[in-house]
Amino acid sequence: MSTFAKPVRKSLIGEIWDFTGPGYRRARKRFAGNEWSTDKHIVLTGATSGLGLSAAKSLAAIGAKLTLVVRDATKGRALQQECESLGARCCRLIIADLALLEDTRRVIDTLFVQDEPIDVLINNAGALFNIRAETIEGIEQSTSLLLLSPVMLMQGLKPLLQAAGSARVVNIVSGGMYTQRLSMSWFRSGFAHRYDGPAVYAQAKRALAIITQEWHEEWAKQGVFLNTMHPGWADTPGVQSALPTFRRFTQWILRSPEEGADTMVWMAADSSLDGISGCLFLDRQARRYYLSKKTQERPTDRRALLSFVDECVSY
Ligand SMILES: NC(=O)c1ccc[n+]([C@@H]2O[C@H](COP(=O)([O-])OP(=O)(O)OC[C@H]3O[C@@H](n4cnc5c(N)ncnc54)[C@H](OP(=O)(O)O)[C@@H]3O)[C@@H](O)[C@H]2O)c1
Repeated sequence: MSTFAKPVRKSLIGEIWDFTGPGYRRARKRFAGNEWSTDKHIVLTGATSGLGLSAAKSLAAIGAKLTLVVRDATKGRALQQECESLGARCCRLIIADLALLEDTRRVIDTLFVQDEPIDVLINNAGALFNIRAETIEGIEQSTSLLLLSPVMLMQGLKPLLQAAGSARVVNIVSGGMYTQRLSMSWFRSGFAHRYDGPAVYAQAKRALAIITQEWHEEWAKQGVFLNTMHPGWADTPGVQSALPTFRRFTQWILRSPEEGADTMVWMAADSSLDGISGCLFLDRQARRYYLSKKTQERPTDRRALLSFVDECVSY
């Protein structure tokens, strides 16, 4: 196994410090370089802000064929032009609100009409909601945006991923998930009991990480390699609006969006990732999925999660 795919073990403080800008800059010293060029077809969600915006520009600059899934057409069109001028082989846009499963389904349908194999799917779109709300489809919005939509994109796009021969899925999770033990009764109740935005966000990210772990072996046999990454703490518009107090106190140690997005671009472009699946990466190095046994979910919850996504996501 490549050394970077074997999770490193550090003290809890060491793990958390690695989330920071100084943590990134120390890790960067061992990076092999960024001399990538690619003609891969990469589907990236949430490309108009923060980490996704940085990743879109970096991938454009190395020649990728991009399909950007964005919810704001005006921002999307400006980015499309920028990506083309940066060197993207081509840049297509799909406008969709990924908190809605109907829109997610339409994204899949559109990609099938394009009928182009997908080399990389990056499930990046996300948000932390401090106030509980349900979508017009009646689903708690964090569950829909952070879990069900990426799962639907994976499942629905699987034939196009397989058609690429060897494809990658990069699911963006969060270090916040280290604080949470999956609770399927919370998901089932739509987090209606007592809503805590950061905890619900972390539950959804934890759930997406578990799905990735559960599926990766079977999918790898079919030529689709699933991994997750977490970007550490990056100073993005998402963090600025959802976590203003956290940001005020940590601003001096936050990463730039480019630093947060670095591993996402590496996972899409670097040939050393060929054949690697089931890992959680931070700064181009596999990390543990759990930092405490207390956050290890029960097998019954793991099974219940698989049934839950099966019930909610049909494509
Ligand atoms: N920043 C961090 O420190 C950090 C840490 C851990 C994990 N993450 C994860 O990294 C990813 C990117 O976060 P970020 O910090 O870059 O946040 P951001 O600056 O808010 O960017 C989020 C992107 O997702 C898009 N998006 C949000 N809701 C959407 C929806 N309903 N439908 C379609 N697109 C939607 C946004 O579109 P608009 O431009 O239209 O708003 C934006 O392009 C997220 O999955 C987040 O959970 C970030």
